Amino acid sequence: MKILLTGAAGFIGFHTAKTLLARGDEVIGLDNFNPYYDPQLKENRIKQLEGLKGFTLIRGDITDRETIRGAMKGVDRICHLAALAGVRYSFEHPDEFILNNIQGTFEMIDEARMQEIPGFIYASSSSVYGGNEQSPSSEEDRVDDQLALYGMTKKDNELMAHTFHNLYGLPVTGLRFFTVYGPWGRPDMALFLFTDAILHDRPIQVFGEGKQQRDFTYVDDIVSGIVASIDKNHDEEIINLGCGRKEELMDFIKIIEESCGKEAQKEMLPMQPGDVRSSLADISKAQKLLDYEPKTQIKDGIPQFVEWYREYYGI
Ligand SMILES: NC(=O)c1ccc[n+]([C@@H]2O[C@H](COP(=O)([O-])OP(=O)(O)OC[C@H]3O[C@@H](n4cnc5c(N)ncnc54)[C@H](O)[C@@H]3O)[C@@H](O)[C@H]2O)c1
Repeated sequence: MKILLTGAAGFIGFHTAKTLLARGDEVIGLDNFNPYYDPQLKENRIKQLEGLKGFTLIRGDITDRETIRGAMKGVDRICHLAALAGVRYSFEHPDEFILNNIQGTFEMIDEARMQEIPGFIYASSSSVYGGNEQSPSSEEDRVDDQLALYGMTKKDNELMAHTFHNLYGLPVTGLRFFTVYGPWGRPDMALFLFTDAILHDRPIQVFGEGKQQRDFTYVDDIVSGIVASIDKNHDEEIINLGCGRKEELMDFIKIIEESCGKEAQKEMLPMQPGDVRSSLADISKAQKLLDYEPKTQIKDGIPQFVEWYREYYGI
């Protein structure tokens, strides 16, 4: 297949591209290399892809209709992962989230229906569950209580996709990712921040007094769900992709400490606005519709991240 992949220089996009290329798909990666976090990390991810057969890179913005019009020509699927993804950053920069996540997704989806692209797979987030404390979170649950602007933009994307499906029959699959981690991960996320601080003998900030719980999903498992969604191309679905296990933050930190061979200096702090105390995915729909079976638990996935981090930064 020929697939347009937005956010290809990003953490999940990079891994998705690698997997699609390895099985012989053609991937057109689109990314604007924005400086929300170190653009050099994005450049280095792309360097890994550029030698691979079937990969083309477009440096461009999803809000630019001309660019995406050209990029989309003749593709079999769109895998739309480009977005601003930081929950906390969305408090300080709401305008950027409206532009990139809402306007950008509109341009993508509207162009996709004009070009009658046969399948549109896009990233949503567990953040849409927000204040709904039902656990595990199921696709049937109400999602109208987002706690952060970021979550609101993802809920908006789901509504937009639903409407475009209703109006024009565009096949759409929204994937609600739950806290993704792994090698080449994002510098603004806990695993990266904690590893970096521990290895440089700096204290780590533990929010929620360490009582938070998360469903941490290894990136290869997420990619398996994305690829299955591209292949199955359901008519219209929203599907959770998590590990289906709830981990205590302090256990997560313990495995990082063991992998780093050092104990962390912990600064215990209260919950931050926008944070949820607990997340856990009900993955039964993904199991049924995508044959999704997550394989990696944090005891195996965290050491793989730390190993990558040490090698990449030469520590
Ligand atoms: N990582 C997670 O835990 C997680 C959880 C839930 C949802 N998601 C979603 O998954 C997707 C991928 O996330 P990620 O962790 O790989 O983030 P990421 O920031 O590493 O990747 C996103 C990429 O999109 C690009 N981008 C942003 N705005 C763009 C624009 N206007 N035009 C072109 N490119 C643009 C960025 O430069 C970046 O390379 C995002 O939609 C995110 O909201 C991620």
